Amino acid sequence: MRTVIVVYSRSGRSLRIAEMLAARTNARLCRIDCPRYRGFRGWLRGWRDARRGYLPEIDVVPEIGAADLLILGGPVWAGRFAPPLRSLMDKANRLPPVVGVFATRNRINSTLPLEADLMALAAAGPTPDEPLPLLSLARRTLRGAAGTKAVERFAERLAPLVSRRKLPALLPLQAA
Ligand SMILES: Cc1cc2nc3c(=O)[nH]c(=O)nc-3n(C[C@H](O)[C@H](O)[C@H](O)COP(=O)(O)O)c2cc1C
Repeated sequence: MRTVIVVYSRSGRSLRIAEMLAARTNARLCRIDCPRYRGFRGWLRGWRDARRGYLPEIDVVPEIGAADLLILGGPVWAGRFAPPLRSLMDKANRLPPVVGVFATRNRINSTLPLEADLMALAAAGPTPDEPLPLLSLARRTLRGAAGTKAVERFAERLAPLVSRRKLPALLPLQAA
């Protein structure tokens, strides 16, 4: 299976998680670019947009290209997935199926406000009735052993879906 991780990361934390996950799943990594939220003005715009549910223009770099499955990730803003990630999720019907989502955040809060987006992604995927695996990491667990363990457990949970199909064993050449 060709699995691609698509991450939005404004300040690098979600990107670090994406890189750890990519190393453990053999997935390719793409980033969501969203110039609207760069710099201090961008930070203010981020809060306003997240509260209003505004979905910004985004680019995915490099392009997602050939993929069988996607894993999405990024920060929580104002209680929900950050708007650039929600812009991508909004196109779920035109994307390869999403098999897992990870989120980074400052505080340990309820993941309930994320449910609507997760349910919409699951509905567009191969198992619409099953909840989508979610890894939600608060700031104090992002670094260190606890974070690494959480990422490993998440990768193990996704492994049956994303594991590469093994090549059939080569038959020994027959003697002429
Ligand atoms: C505009 C904005 C809104 C945020 N809202 C929340 C929030 O509601 N809850 C929370 O725990 N953290 C919130 N954060 C903090 C980020 O979720 C957290 O720092 C995250 O790990 C950053 O990920 P990144 O480095 O990949 O951008 C917010 C950050 C920004 C910039």
